[in-house]
Amino acid sequence: MPKIVFLPHQELLPEGGVFDAGSGETILDVALRNGIELEHACEKSCACTTCHCVVREGFDSLAESSEDEDDMLDKAWGLEPESRLGCQARVTDEDLVVEIPRYTINHAREH
Ligand code: FES
Repeated sequence: MPKIVFLPHQELLPEGGVFDAGSGETILDVALRNGIELEHACEKSCACTTCHCVVREGFDSLAESSEDEDDMLDKAWGLEPESRLGCQARVTDEDLVVEIPRYTINHAREH
């Protein structure tokens, strides 16, 4: 069973953690299932950037991002080449190392 290593995040997961991931499960769902309150302002419909994650290892094992996802990612805080939307990136059979960016931009909340 693949695993996701979440690197420490000041508020959400100060110590970091390692969690089992079902093949086909999204990074966001693995996080939520394990009590990591990763934001998901658009309810996983690829219309926000609050579930932005950076996949430090295993990025290439993920199916490529869609054009819609890339368009959203362009607006994310702290975009990196290995950025993905947590609700769109599905685990395959490889382990991942995931960093949750320090900030998110939640337009729903700002206005
Ligand atoms: S929850 Fe909005 S894009 Fe993932």
